[in-house]
Amino acid sequence: MYSTKYVIAAIIIFLAIVTSPVWYDMASGEPIHPKLAKPTGAHCVENTEWMKAHHMLLLKDWRTMHVREGKVLYTSQTYGDVYNASIEECFKCHRSETNFCEKCHDYMGAKIECFECHTYPELVEEYNK
Ligand code: HEC
Ligand code: HEC
Ligand code: HEC
Repeated sequence: MYSTKYVIAAIIIFLAIVTSPVWYDMASGEPIHPKLAKPTGAHCVENTEWMKAHHMLLLKDWRTMHVREGKVLYTSQTYGDVYNASIEECFKCHRSETNFCEKCHDYMGAKIECFECHTYPELVEEYNK
C-alpha cells in the first residue's frame, strides 16, 4: 500500500504543475497566448471559437471543394456571406502570415506545410521588392 500522505503530496505537486500556466498568468498579469496580428473585418469566416478549433478543417474542405469539385465559392454557415474557397482568402483580413498563422503554430507546436507551395503576404512583399 502507498502511504496516503505521499499520494496526496504527489497529487498536489501534479496539480501545481498542470495548472502552472494559470498561476503564471495570474502572477505576471500577462496572458500566455502569443500576441497575434490584429485582423481587419468585422468577423472571421465562421465564429471565432469555431475558427480557433477548426480552421484547418475549413481549409481542407475548401481545397476539396475547389480542386476536386470545382466549387470556388463558400457561404459562411454563421453569417451567410460568401468567400473564395482559397487559402489566400484568409489574408484579405489576416494581413500577416508570420505574425498570425505562424506565430500561433510555432507557439502551439503545430507544423504547417501549406506555405511550401501557397503564397502569403510576406512572400508577396519579398517578391515585389
Ligand atoms: C506541394 C504543393 C502544395 C502544398 C504543400 C499544399 N498545396 Fe494547396 N494547392 C496546391 C496546388 C497546385 C493547388 C491548385 C491550384 C489551382 O488549381 O489553382 C492547390 C489548391 C489549394 C486550395 C484551393 C485553391 C487556393 O488557391 O487556395 C486550397 C484551399 C488549398 N490548396 C489548401 C491547402 C492547404 C490548407 C495546405 C496545407 C495543409 C496545402 N494546400 C498544401 C499545392 C499545394
Ligand atoms: C472577412 C475577414 C476575415 C477572413 C476572410 C478571415 N478571417 Fe480569421 N478572423 C477575422 C477576425 C475579425 C477575427 C477576430 C474575431 C474576434 O476577435 O472575435 C478572426 C479570427 C481568427 C482566428 C482566431 C484567432 C485568435 O486570436 O484566436 C483564426 C484561427 C482565424 N481567424 C483563421 C482564419 C483562417 C484560417 C482564414 C481563412 C480560411 C480566415 N481566418 C479568414 C477576420 C477574417
Ligand atoms: C490561435 C492559434 C492559431 C492561429 C492564429 C492559426 N492556427 Fe492554424 N493551427 C493551430 C493549431 C493548434 C493547429 C494544429 C491542430 C492539430 O494539430 O490538430 C493548426 C493547424 C493548422 C492546419 C492543419 C495543418 C495540417 O497539416 O494538418 C492548417 C492548414 C492551418 N492551421 C492553417 C492556418 C492558417 C492559414 C492560419 C492563418 C490564416 C492559421 N492556421 C492560424 C492554431 C492556429
